Amino acid sequence: MPTLSIADERFHYVEKGQGHPVLLVHGFPLDHTMWDEQLDGLADLGRLIAPDLRGFGLSREASTEGLSIEQFADDLAHLLDALWISEPVVFCGLSMGGYIAFEFWRKHADRVRGLVLCDTRADDDAPETKAARQTMAARVREQGIEAIVEAMQPRMFSPCTSADRPGDVERWKAMVRGCPVDTAAAALLAMGRRRNSTELLPAIDRPTLVVVGADDVTSPPGEMRALAAAVPNSQFAVIPDAGHLTPIENPAAFNRVLGDWLNRLG
Ligand code: MLT
Repeated sequence: MPTLSIADERFHYVEKGQGHPVLLVHGFPLDHTMWDEQLDGLADLGRLIAPDLRGFGLSREASTEGLSIEQFADDLAHLLDALWISEPVVFCGLSMGGYIAFEFWRKHADRVRGLVLCDTRADDDAPETKAARQTMAARVREQGIEAIVEAMQPRMFSPCTSADRPGDVERWKAMVRGCPVDTAAAALLAMGRRRNSTELLPAIDRPTLVVVGADDVTSPPGEMRALAAAVPNSQFAVIPDAGHLTPIENPAAFNRVLGDWLNRLG
């Protein structure tokens, strides 16, 4: 897997395909492998680049001290520089990856060709959610990463996935268990400090695809529909038999929607 050194930190990513760049940005507390089916199924539609964010996956050595969503966004801009990519990219982010997409748009809009917002939200955390993240950050440091598995699992999957595709659940658990405790704690606090991006939505003037799992209870379809309605040039899609992790839970339907949208983008 390729590595790039950016300001003395090592970042890992995978890439597949050629043509217009598409950045695939993972959710919390995952890594680039959550996009395996997209890397396999959509590589004829562009240059797909799936990084491990700072502290996650094989980028685990990069410092997470004072981590912020802005820092993730800046890291990705530096990654594009290091790959000599100056043309605007499609930025596709899931959940925490979507929070980073908004920050990337805020700071690097000239580098954005289109946005794909999967199972995410534009608002910031309510005070009780912020407090819960602080509690969870302390708990994960005390009890280890299993605390995150226990807390998140009930809100991640469609009932169909839990009943019929236990392999998807095991794959998610393995990814979570691979996340360093310090990274998980730092990212929880970073998400709790993120800015509210709802005021950005009406001014997003790039094609935007908003995707949600029909059974997502973390970023429910009703809220995602409202998010899509606030973005002028947007398309909204609900993926059946999927909860919060649409690209993993129903990759065939997810790839069809994203593939069609990328084809139309040209
Ligand atoms: C994610 O999937 O990235 C998380 O659900 C994001 C969050 O905790 O807000």
